[in-house]
Amino acid sequence: MVKICCIGAGYVGGPTMAVIALKCPSIEVVVVDISVPRITAWNSDTLPIYEPGLYDIVKECRGRNLFFSTDVEKHVREADIVFVSVNTPTKTRGLGAGKAADLTYWESAARMIADVSKSDKIVVEKSTVPVKTAEAIEKILTHNSKGINFQILSNPEFLAEGTAIEDLFKPDRVLIGGRETPGGQKAIQALKDVYSQWVPEERILTTNLWSAELSKLAANAFLAQRISSVNAMSALCEATGANVSQVAYAVGKDSRIGPKFLNSSVGFGGSCFQKDILNLVYICECNGLPEVAEYWKQVIKINDYQKNRFVNRVVASMFNTVSGKKVAILGFAFKKDTGDTRETPAIDVCKGLLGDKANLSIYDPQVNEDQIQRDLSMKKFDWDHPLHLQPMSPTTVKQVSVVWDAYTATKDAHAVCILTEWDEFKSLDYKKIYDSMQKPAFIFDGRNVVEADKLREIGFIVYSIGKPLDAWLKDMPAIA
Ligand code: UDX
Ligand code: UDX
Ligand code: ADP
Repeated sequence: MVKICCIGAGYVGGPTMAVIALKCPSIEVVVVDISVPRITAWNSDTLPIYEPGLYDIVKECRGRNLFFSTDVEKHVREADIVFVSVNTPTKTRGLGAGKAADLTYWESAARMIADVSKSDKIVVEKSTVPVKTAEAIEKILTHNSKGINFQILSNPEFLAEGTAIEDLFKPDRVLIGGRETPGGQKAIQALKDVYSQWVPEERILTTNLWSAELSKLAANAFLAQRISSVNAMSALCEATGANVSQVAYAVGKDSRIGPKFLNSSVGFGGSCFQKDILNLVYICECNGLPEVAEYWKQVIKINDYQKNRFVNRVVASMFNTVSGKKVAILGFAFKKDTGDTRETPAIDVCKGLLGDKANLSIYDPQVNEDQIQRDLSMKKFDWDHPLHLQPMSPTTVKQVSVVWDAYTATKDAHAVCILTEWDEFKSLDYKKIYDSMQKPAFIFDGRNVVEADKLREIGFIVYSIGKPLDAWLKDMPAIA
């Protein structure tokens, strides 16, 4: 029986290993983590992450060939294949701070693997890492190997949160990078044998180590660039009276461009896009390519611009001040169908409104008060450090209340900001909401989820990203 151990029971490690266990009954999969609460949650009925379809799979496999444990060393020692799926946040201090990936967790995982191993192993890089990390890890492993043979592979994960299970069941591609030596090729084949139990052969691509590492950074950069491109267009649409949805539809009909990932929004978030682009920028700078670095930086600049633009629009429309006004925030997660708030645009938008002294009442179906308070009181770049390394009791932000339904959030509010595209926001009773709000009642739709014309009939002043502006909004131009 092949034994797999995955270090890191997070958004990537957890779902990926659950699907491997489901699809490969003859493989024993153990997911290990240093965080005791995380592992306890994986072993309970309340999983530590919300992901549609995940619980059913975990329930089916847990105790059969899927296990969650804090005994990291034991399971690493016993494994044939070790996946490393630990966090790689952006460095907060020192060389490359604010840009380079912090590989502390990776390095300590690699040293531990070298320390405890007694048999040959394939070590698989699963978390996104800078190009040539595999080479660095290989050095740590071989310099400490005591004669054990380690083969390192890069197998970046392309799943998106909220659709992780679908993505894992039917991946567009599985990418495996390895050394071009006989040992490297044998390791690639061993990992291929795992995936080929449910992924068609032609979708499993093999490359050298660096191509695999760079492909992951490039894919995320290209995806983020599409959103910044359509968001840049949204500003121009508002200025000229065009409709960004119509423009995006027409553009996407070109088969060379394609229709997906062209929804204008208040900005992209999530643990990957910004981090990976910053990483790419840093790698370009280190390799003496400032023009290329500058090109990719622009994707992040437009994303920041879009969040600022939204805040400016809210404040400008409401007589240039939100001071002391209740503003309802609907949605805080970085996208629908996840409780994840890493790099969510809601953080910057809320901070912007708080800076103008608004009182926020926040509702998200999957994010709790502790998380929201932590996000709003944390410094930038500290968000994706594990909880146990963060200060225990960050100060609470007094102007913020977190509630458990949309109607409580919007009662007596002057304005509603929709920041996540949760389906339930489409079918709220907006007449009831309007009646309970201060007048004039504003809706700022950062995700284009509501039917603006219907809400205008009710009496709302509605702003939809990239859509022609109401007469009211035209009269109150946002200062950039
Ligand atoms: C992304 C990649 O899609 C995935 O392949 C990679 O493995 C990890 O990073 P994820 O961050 O989970 O996945 O979600 P994704 O669906 O890509 O959305 C990222 C952000 O872009 C979200 O904030 C989303 O709301 C936003 N977005 C996405 C838009 O604003 N418009 C779109 O058209 C699509
Ligand atoms: C373009 C648009 O494709 C077309 O829809 C529009 O109506 C007019 O402009 P055209 O300029 O004739 O058409 O040729 P196109 O095939 O788009 O190529 C433009 C340039 O991009 C060429 O120099 C081509 O060599 C280059 N190119 C194209 C690349 O360098 N790489 C590619 O992958 C594709
Ligand atoms: P991702 O989104 O990439 O999956 P997460 O932050 O959700 O990232 O998960 C990473 C997990 O890795 C965390 O649960 C963290 O506790 C765990 N981790 C980090 N370093 C180690 C380590 N040296 N050994 C075991 N687990 C680790």
